Amino acid sequence: MGPIEMLKSQFALLWRFLGFFQPPLLRLLHISVVGLVVLQVLTQLAGMSMTHAISGLVLSMLGLGLIALGLGTRGPRHYYPYLWGDMDQLKRDVAAIRSGKLIIAPRPKGLACVVQGLGMGALAMSMISGLWLFRSWQMGEISHAAATMHGIFVFLLVAYAVGHGGMAMGHFFFWKKAAAKK
Ligand code: HEM
Ligand code: HEM
Repeated sequence: MGPIEMLKSQFALLWRFLGFFQPPLLRLLHISVVGLVVLQVLTQLAGMSMTHAISGLVLSMLGLGLIALGLGTRGPRHYYPYLWGDMDQLKRDVAAIRSGKLIIAPRPKGLACVVQGLGMGALAMSMISGLWLFRSWQMGEISHAAATMHGIFVFLLVAYAVGHGGMAMGHFFFWKKAAAKK
């Protein structure tokens, strides 16, 4: 297999793996948002301000879609169970991790979902502060408050992406290994 076919087949496998968790539209929005967040980091590092701002506007729409569809599909209690004092699954997951289990399946209202809820918050705040920064730039006076906020929330979002994305890639890897054994 050449490198292009290899990449294609890995992507097809990843799409199938994500399908265990997300219906097609949610999956499509999720993948688009992941790609756009990576693009935001790259355009910023490359100093491509104009591209960054325009793809930021696209990201803001798709990101809002991802958050709304996630909340609409699963309900807010799925991601924020602690607001209802509903912590049983969360406690079970933390206990499993403390007993040395590294791989725990994502369960509704569990640790993975609670982390996703916080990630949605970081994504929303990055987008809002980004839009605010963009607006201030349009008006001819860049807001330092917006720039500071944007920097902080983007940092939190990237930390989330590494943690949540890393765990998901870990699950993907073990799923592939288990599937290959069968
Ligand atoms: C959510 C993913 C995003 C990431 C990872 C990201 C990353 C960054 C970073 C690291 C900076 C530099 C901050 C600083 O120097 O203090 C920045 C600046 C900026 N961002 Fe974002 N951003 C994102 C989303 C957005 C969105 C949605 C918009 C809205 C259009 C936006 C508009 C801007 C603007 C106007 C600047 C300042 C101009 C510049 O330095 O290029 N960003 N972004
Ligand atoms: C910028 C990076 C990322 C963001 C902002 C993000 C955001 C989200 C959000 C908001 C959810 C909840 C939606 C739902 O309930 O299905 C979610 C779930 C999920 N994400 Fe991500 N994600 C990112 C990166 C990744 C990566 C790299 C992977 C690895 C392939 C991944 C795999 C998953 C999986 C498997 C779920 C569903 C897990 C479950 O049902 O509990 N994510 N993500």
